[in-house]
Amino acid sequence: MRRIIQTLAILGCAAVAASGAPGMDTAKAMDGKALFEEKCAGCHVTKIPQNTATLVAPPAVGITMHVKMAHPKKEDFTAFVVDYVQAPSAEKALCEKETVKRFGIMPSQKGNVTPAQLRAIADYLYATFAKGGHLKMMHEQMKRRFESDQAKYPENEGISEKK
Ligand code: HEC
Repeated sequence: MRRIIQTLAILGCAAVAASGAPGMDTAKAMDGKALFEEKCAGCHVTKIPQNTATLVAPPAVGITMHVKMAHPKKEDFTAFVVDYVQAPSAEKALCEKETVKRFGIMPSQKGNVTPAQLRAIADYLYATFAKGGHLKMMHEQMKRRFESDQAKYPENEGISEKK
């Protein structure tokens, strides 16, 4: 069981970082893209580096995926981003505890970015990362890793049927 929990933990934002390239459909929402690059990408990289040990925060694809999984509807997604970036906290954080432990809670960006700018940024994130096939691929990867772990620890058999 501990092993399973560890596996789930490393599937957090940091692990997502290692697992895939971000979506590339950035034709729309130029404004949000420029704002994100200016204000957020210094910490949340949009391209996953070879060496993920250099990351100072989960990459853009990781944070987008976590927020999307909790808030799939665009308006809820946007509301979360607008709120969290101005007032982050451990209680609100959607990333796994290990992620928060590794990187610490995000410093509030209040004063550095306006709510209107955050809405544009949220549009950009929502439209660009962790979508469609990419999201599905990550789910598949998580499932495969989970199942192979389960095969090694048969005492946990059946656990993955609980979705
Ligand atoms: C100084 C580095 C830094 C900057 C700048 C920064 N972030 Fe973060 N952010 C973090 C860290 C570290 C985390 C992971 C811990 C957490 O969830 O608080 C995080 C987490 C997040 C999350 C996920 C929250 C969750 O619950 O999982 C979102 C969404 C986010 N950031 C959006 C933004 C946006 C949008 C900007 C630009 C306006 C931004 N961040 C700028 C460091 C940063």
